Amino acid sequence: MVEPPYYLWNQWYLVGRIPDLRRGKTASITVMDVRIALYRDSAGRVVALEDRCPHVGAQLSLGKVHGDCLSCPFHGWTFDQAGACVDIPSMGAPTPALRNLTVRSFPVHEAAGLLWLFMRSDASIEPDEPAPVPPELLDPAWAWTLVEDTWDVNFTRFAENMMDQVHVPFVHARTIGRGASTRGPLELEIREVPGGFDLQGGMLTFRMPNIHRLYIFDQMGIGMHGLPVSVNRTRIFIFGFRKFLKPRIFDFMFRIANRRILEEDRAVLLSQRPTHIDLTPGGDHLVRADVAARAYRRLLVDHIERQQARAAGGSLTVDPEKVS
Ligand code: FES
Ligand SMILES: [Fe+2]
Repeated sequence: MVEPPYYLWNQWYLVGRIPDLRRGKTASITVMDVRIALYRDSAGRVVALEDRCPHVGAQLSLGKVHGDCLSCPFHGWTFDQAGACVDIPSMGAPTPALRNLTVRSFPVHEAAGLLWLFMRSDASIEPDEPAPVPPELLDPAWAWTLVEDTWDVNFTRFAENMMDQVHVPFVHARTIGRGASTRGPLELEIREVPGGFDLQGGMLTFRMPNIHRLYIFDQMGIGMHGLPVSVNRTRIFIFGFRKFLKPRIFDFMFRIANRRILEEDRAVLLSQRPTHIDLTPGGDHLVRADVAARAYRRLLVDHIERQQARAAGGSLTVDPEKVS
């Protein structure tokens, strides 16, 4: 049985705008219940390390950046960009054995002022795909806006909402669903592809772990990403892409429209119980029109079962007494 928090590891996640990391500054973010320290190394690249010192658990991001390394505020243990411990001041000179004492590092991608992290379950796992940056962000033919929010829901409820077409005339009766019929029977077409599916001839696409794309017409689209922060908290990112009214002065109109629609979704999502999808027998009752949610649940369960099978190996631990 697959149970919450339903985290999908070894995937790229958009985590938001790059924080100000100038002049040795650090930041701390939480993704899938992992606190992560961010800083820039001497080459200006963003480094992401698990924000917990392996000594006795202090928060590394409260410490200091020295060149490529981050030093813990508590007793000065120091870690490089790969998360390897390069100094334990109390022990005198660093020794090669220290390099086995690591904090997990996460591959990082920066584009268009935004940051993606590869949330790996183990430091030995490398991404086999580049970060899924929406191509419109890097294409001057497009203008784009980003609306962000944080909701107290599990990201699975958000994901299903974004692919659910049946809710539109109910939840969005005063905006995008105005005048739409509420009554079926609905025949929704789905085409499954590796790692996702396309709905209604590709009008709406979903790709694991959390990437939704709505093609409104060839001049306009919406990108929707949900970042699992913790079991009951999700960071929401809604992109509006457009090829018309491109001057930035028009951004506010698109932002206001997308925020208004999002607020309609938020109200109903916050009301759902449990706060995550309910896979227990007798839990949620999906019907034929919930074709996307059913496909999503199959993908989710399959992914989690495979990651549970792989996790049998366990992780490396080092006895500090032996680090000498
Ligand atoms: S807790 Fe980090 S050096 Fe002691
Ligand atoms: Fe909606």
